[in-house]
Amino acid sequence: MQQKKLIPNHIAIIMDGNGRWAEQRGLTRVEGHRAGVRHIHSLIRHLYTRGVKYVTLYAFSTENWRRPEDEVNGIFRILHDVTVSESKKLNKYGICIRHLGSLEGLPEDTKEDIKKADELTAGNTGMTLSVALNYGGRAEIIEAVRRIVTAGLNPGEINEKVLQSYLYIPELPDVDLVIRTGGEMRISNLLIWQTAYSEYYFTPVLWPDFSVAELKKALSEFSRRKRRFGGLNQKA
Ligand code: IPE
Ligand code: IPE
Ligand code: MG
Repeated sequence: MQQKKLIPNHIAIIMDGNGRWAEQRGLTRVEGHRAGVRHIHSLIRHLYTRGVKYVTLYAFSTENWRRPEDEVNGIFRILHDVTVSESKKLNKYGICIRHLGSLEGLPEDTKEDIKKADELTAGNTGMTLSVALNYGGRAEIIEAVRRIVTAGLNPGEINEKVLQSYLYIPELPDVDLVIRTGGEMRISNLLIWQTAYSEYYFTPVLWPDFSVAELKKALSEFSRRKRRFGGLNQKA
């Protein structure tokens, strides 16, 4: 009997390589970001049909504010267009869209887009798509600690479960698989608390070229990994 393929419960994707993809073609970086959203829908749909329950997409880090203003504005314009076109479609599948990150410093219309997508999809239970936007893992932990202190908790009351409950999306489970495109092998401040025991899949493929066929390779590689979580026996 063929064994059932192990599917990750939570996949986080670092969508990297748009700039290099554009450069190789003599295009502007913003055109690279525009190309970066072309596979998004088919990738999400594939993960949904495979039964993945949580998907996190790293769209804009707290460090990405260091980029030139034109590029930042271009990224936000593209994010607006994608949110408008995708939220209705994803809502039909029963996908719940959540913002992951800080609202502070975001443009007003972006905050409005987040609110609308949230309200539209709040009751959905099919899959949770969290969009890491203005997100930093260290900032998330700092904010959690601040709120723990403000709540007046005693040191003895603080454990992993309690800290987790003060994170941006408390119910977001540990990440099973991190996929990073674009060839760099680093986490770049994504979900540093939630990736403590994640599996990593790095590929040199640049994000605009990362198609469903590439995603299948990552899932297939994950199903062959042996996860022990510090013990001796493999756990699912
Ligand atoms: C990732 O692509 C997208 C964002 C960070 C918003 P990059 O823009 O970092 O692409 P490279 O790494 O310069 O190729
Ligand atoms: C990580 O990519 C952030 C996103 C994909 C949104 P970066 O291109 O910003 O990461 P570094 O700077 O190479 O670490
Ligand atoms: Mg990059």
